[in-house]
Amino acid sequence: MSKVSGVKGMNDILPGDVEVWQHVERTARELFGRFGYGEVRTPMVEDTALFVRSVGETTDIVGKEMYTFEDKGGRSLSLRPEGTAPAARAYIEHSILNQEPITRWFYMGPMFRYERMKTGRYRQFHQIGAEGYGSKEPAQDVEMMDMVVQLLQKLGLTDVSLNINSLGDDACRPGYQNRLVEYLRAHSSELCADCQVRLEKNPLRVLDCKNERCQQIANAAPNITESLCEPCRAHFAEVQRKLDVLGIKYVVNSRIMRGLDYYTRTTFEFIASHPALGTASTVGGGGRYDKLVKSLGGPDVPAVGFGLGLDRLCLLLKESGQQFSPPVDLFIAAADEGSADVAFGLVSRMRREGLRVEFDTRGGSLKSQMKRADKTGARFTLVLGQNERESGQAQLKPMAGGDAIPVRLEDLASTVREALARPSAPPAS
Ligand code: HAM
Repeated sequence: MSKVSGVKGMNDILPGDVEVWQHVERTARELFGRFGYGEVRTPMVEDTALFVRSVGETTDIVGKEMYTFEDKGGRSLSLRPEGTAPAARAYIEHSILNQEPITRWFYMGPMFRYERMKTGRYRQFHQIGAEGYGSKEPAQDVEMMDMVVQLLQKLGLTDVSLNINSLGDDACRPGYQNRLVEYLRAHSSELCADCQVRLEKNPLRVLDCKNERCQQIANAAPNITESLCEPCRAHFAEVQRKLDVLGIKYVVNSRIMRGLDYYTRTTFEFIASHPALGTASTVGGGGRYDKLVKSLGGPDVPAVGFGLGLDRLCLLLKESGQQFSPPVDLFIAAADEGSADVAFGLVSRMRREGLRVEFDTRGGSLKSQMKRADKTGARFTLVLGQNERESGQAQLKPMAGGDAIPVRLEDLASTVREALARPSAPPAS
């Protein structure tokens, strides 16, 4: 029979890897909680118009990469390509501003973009993101960056640099746009077909085109930071000062345009320099979007946020060689058929007592069970036979070698726990 394969660009995450994912998720949840962020879960499918109106019609994400379909009621729906717009929709829909002036949310989950695949770039990928509503102050921008910096530090991912930029606002962006259009017009015949359209409809998006020639042209384009109005310049300067206050290192990089239309003022990206990511080196990005909530029909609320690529973080973490699977504490083997049920009962009891216990449900010879014990990397084994059953006494054997520990079956859990706590305990393999 022909086999059915998974969808291209959508990955299975198997045990062995999933522990790395859980570690990152757990670390982020715990850390973001300390910053006062609550978890929000929005649906994976939204009205297509939400993304068209927020991320922007002429962006690659909306123009080329969305999974859009009609449901049975004839509505145009899309798998979410990102989390900011859905969170803003929920924020508006639940009138959150009426309940609190400042809101801090985080989320994690799959996002979907029909992108050309390579290492670190997938069609179903996962983000950990956060959004803060209600403060236009630079401290809020810096709190966001601090949160990412602390997360990366906790994960031991230190080779990541923070790049920041400011995209200005309604007062100064149009002036910059005019300068940009003037510059791009002089090169228009060299731009790709998409950028010819972008030049007319949304010239900023030419700056994040992936076409090589367009990128060369973009690299020599006028800098947006030179066109900032006084309030935007002051905001950006204060963001930098506050980063200095926290001792966070950064570089100002006026090429951080971000590829989504909703940004105003601060934008930032965290860029890793590890070969495991190839060219997919941006592990996260974000920025301020003070106009988005209002443009989606909500109140006039400033906001700032970020999204981290969980797949990419996990690729980096796997490279770091850290061990995330918890070790098996104990393997229990039955020496003969008659001991199988007692062993089975003991396994169940030890698990109830909180130990990580392995057991071969297939039974089989003691030799094959011990082979299995070796495979599991269990730190101790206990063999249960007729003698042990009758005497209620057994031997706890450290798998790494060393003296066996006599144990009363009644006290097995506490003896294993004590043995594990000793400095001489066998290491987790
Ligand atoms: P973004 O830059 O489009 O921003 O995505 C954030 C991160 O998601 C990227 O830096 C990257 O690590 C990861 N990512 C994006 N596309 C893929 C892909 N195809 N495969 C693997 N990883 C990917 C946003 O989505 C904004 N919503 C961030 C934000 C939140 N801005 C304000 N608030």
